[in-house]
Amino acid sequence: MVIPHSRPVFAAGVADVCNDVLAEQILACGKHTQALEQQVGQALGLPNTLAVNAGTSALMLAIRALSKGKTNPRVGIPSYVCASLWFAVKAAGAKPVLMDCNADFTLDAEQARDMSNTLDMLVLVHPFGMVEPLAAETFACPVIEDIAQSVGATFNEQKVGTFADVCIGSLYATKPWGGAYGGFIASKHAELIAQCGVMINPDGSNLEATYVGHHLLSNVHAALASHRIQHAEHEQKQRQAWAMKYDALLAEFAEQGKASPIHSVAHSQGNAFRYLVHCAVDIAPIIQAFQSLGIAAARPVQQPLHQNDEQALPQAKHAWQHTLSLPLLADMSNDEFTLMQQGIRTCFTS
Ligand SMILES: Cc1ncc(COP(=O)(O)O)c(C=O)c1O
Repeated sequence: MVIPHSRPVFAAGVADVCNDVLAEQILACGKHTQALEQQVGQALGLPNTLAVNAGTSALMLAIRALSKGKTNPRVGIPSYVCASLWFAVKAAGAKPVLMDCNADFTLDAEQARDMSNTLDMLVLVHPFGMVEPLAAETFACPVIEDIAQSVGATFNEQKVGTFADVCIGSLYATKPWGGAYGGFIASKHAELIAQCGVMINPDGSNLEATYVGHHLLSNVHAALASHRIQHAEHEQKQRQAWAMKYDALLAEFAEQGKASPIHSVAHSQGNAFRYLVHCAVDIAPIIQAFQSLGIAAARPVQQPLHQNDEQALPQAKHAWQHTLSLPLLADMSNDEFTLMQQGIRTCFTS
């Protein structure tokens, strides 16, 4: 048996949705893309939504829209995030400024406030299915909320993604709303979304525009994502229930100081997208031990951004060496859970 790190769940009816796309014979942007935009807007409670081909494109476009008229804008991003953020900032013609994280991967509030005076914008990431509480604060520069991994989470009973000027998300295969490839930008400001909208379709654009790319979301990806979104709340509850079982399994190792679960908020507030564990020792041999048992434990971040910066980013460096992500699958079978139980006991005991 191999327990993968991520696994999409396809609820009943998914074949009908795919057949509908095939019957209509439109793979390009189409009615499912438009329906998805409405669905995302309704799910978030934000009136202006644009579906695009990737979360990375969504972030790049939001940065471009917010940096209109600025040369070489400086964009603050957390240092312990996936490399897509780094590349999105660069693709927008901006400079990424890495910010170190706290032990739960949120940003240090004082540092973020200070730095916002020197930044053109700040990307606040709700990390790994958890919540970045700073989203509820006001900063000296515009803020983009990144809910790629935490869509469905809430803070003070408000949905993440609805605090900042604009939010972006991903519809990539492994994400909670994953429909293979895709992303979205949503905002209460119609003008911002309209600015992003003129950058996504080269055939419909003004040739004088500074930037336009082919970022439309295909009908087939939209149809799959739309189906996943309909069932996302149910999947979230299933993951939250498994996460509580993992907490119980880890309790003895947490007491011994060997391995402790990391939560920035209670499971009920986050979406339990990932299950992260802080290990006292370097995680490389622990990952290998899990993998030899058929459990695809992994690093939550594949490529350490802190290596790309001359600044000292001690917490990001520590997180890279000591943070493990265990598979947390909504539709985990009892046999798979038994294997996870064995894996947790074996790999953290030694
Ligand atoms: C926090 C975060 N933001 C943005 C992205 C980019 O999304 P995509 O893979 O759809 O381009 C990712 C992807 O892993 C992510 O984890």
